[in-house]
Amino acid sequence: MNITCNINGAEVSADVSEKTRLIDFLRDELHLTGTKEGCSEGECGACTVIVNKRAVTSCTMLAAQVDDCEVLTIEGLKQNGEFDILQEKFVEHGAVQCGFCSPGFIMSAKALMMNNSNPTMDNIKRAIEGNLCRCTGYIKIIEAIDAAVKEVSK
Ligand code: FES
Ligand code: FES
Repeated sequence: MNITCNINGAEVSADVSEKTRLIDFLRDELHLTGTKEGCSEGECGACTVIVNKRAVTSCTMLAAQVDDCEVLTIEGLKQNGEFDILQEKFVEHGAVQCGFCSPGFIMSAKALMMNNSNPTMDNIKRAIEGNLCRCTGYIKIIEAIDAAVKEVSK
């Protein structure tokens, strides 16, 4: 079937199989390999992207489901050569070790910030409750997101 969607600000039209998962469409067809695949069953959050301002796991969604939608992946966060505030704060706060989980965490946090201009620490923890990290523990990740929130609300 043919789908048309907006991915990272660009119109994309493509023929996809009805069984093609969104993660495969992004990584294999569009070469947006910043989105990572961990568990493949909606449990780890590594594959999180944003569809119509909502964080979703792209391993449990079909490409066909984003027809007419706006999709944002980690590649879409860098604007005019500038990293997103979340990316900057993750680096500053040491919230990245191997980095495999980082795109997923950042996209979950980005969706939170898109929908809530003044999230509490509790909101932050809830927003990333579907994301797993095997390296850092979570304190530095939470601190990085909190710092990004504070920076944009200055
Ligand atoms: Fe999608 Fe783990 S790879 S949630
Ligand atoms: Fe390695 Fe999170 S930084 S899994």
